[in-house]
Amino acid sequence: MKKYTTIEDIENLTELINKAIQLKNNAFQFEALGKHKTLVMLFFNASLRTRLSTEKAAKNLGMNVTVLNVNDAWNLEYEDGSVMNLNTAEHVKEAAKVISQYADIIAIRAFPTLKDKTKDESEFIINSFIKYATAPIVSMESATAHPLQALADAITIEELKTSPKPKVVLSWAPHTKTLPQAVPNSFVSMMQKLDVDFVITHPEGYALNPEITKDVPVYHNQEEALKDADFVYSKNWSSYSNYGKILEVDSSWMMTKEKLASAKFMHCLPVRRNLVVEDAVLDSDQSLVIEQANNRTFAAQIVLKNLLENL
Ligand code: CP
Repeated sequence: MKKYTTIEDIENLTELINKAIQLKNNAFQFEALGKHKTLVMLFFNASLRTRLSTEKAAKNLGMNVTVLNVNDAWNLEYEDGSVMNLNTAEHVKEAAKVISQYADIIAIRAFPTLKDKTKDESEFIINSFIKYATAPIVSMESATAHPLQALADAITIEELKTSPKPKVVLSWAPHTKTLPQAVPNSFVSMMQKLDVDFVITHPEGYALNPEITKDVPVYHNQEEALKDADFVYSKNWSSYSNYGKILEVDSSWMMTKEKLASAKFMHCLPVRRNLVVEDAVLDSDQSLVIEQANNRTFAAQIVLKNLLENL
């Protein structure tokens, strides 16, 4: 692995998941690998899990970790040939090369604008770092993808499935804020690589990028989609076709204990209680959200291990 900005960077998914699960039994078995190596984490946006789990993963491998909240640094310019006479103080060309001198691996979180689809889909921040940095890049959630979350979710399903081919449902959830499509995009791509019976359910107008969903069955009737589900992943996302818009906050799409039936509940967190999912689900044994967050450490650790081995 030379970088990890999309799940397409994974060469052998089954092997990676199994190795991540093995790491859970002995998290420090490769602590010599990262000695005298530094992970620099750049945050353009807020985080709880990604920041703490990725730092823990790097430290489990013996790495040093430096965190920069980019909003505390110079405002970066990304346009080639621009006259920098406005509010950008440093070009990414210099910044990426400078950071590469301090880092053996660079991890970046950079959310979308959710206003300009073309700009967001160009992934201009993460792709500029891929272009100009000399250290490998890890996405800690970009405009269109959250590959570390998707890997943690795959680990969780593989660990806890009770049938060889479980039914997994991605169910859109109501929300009052405009949220990205990054988590559902990567989850959809990941489910297409696992041996699962996968369906998506959302109200009209919330179709994800068809280049990502491909031929995954989509239901506008949530009840029908949830039939015989083993895992239900609730997640809000804003409209892709009416880009970045909230079309409705229909509380009838909230996940309830009754709708969940005997399925396990998944969510990437943070989650708004009694808007996305009712208390009775999160407070029950059917909720896997804490285990998913735990698996973020081992997803990050197996990715960092692979990158360290290829430096
Ligand atoms: N799931 C996730 O990425 O959480 P944070 O936004 O808190 O990092």
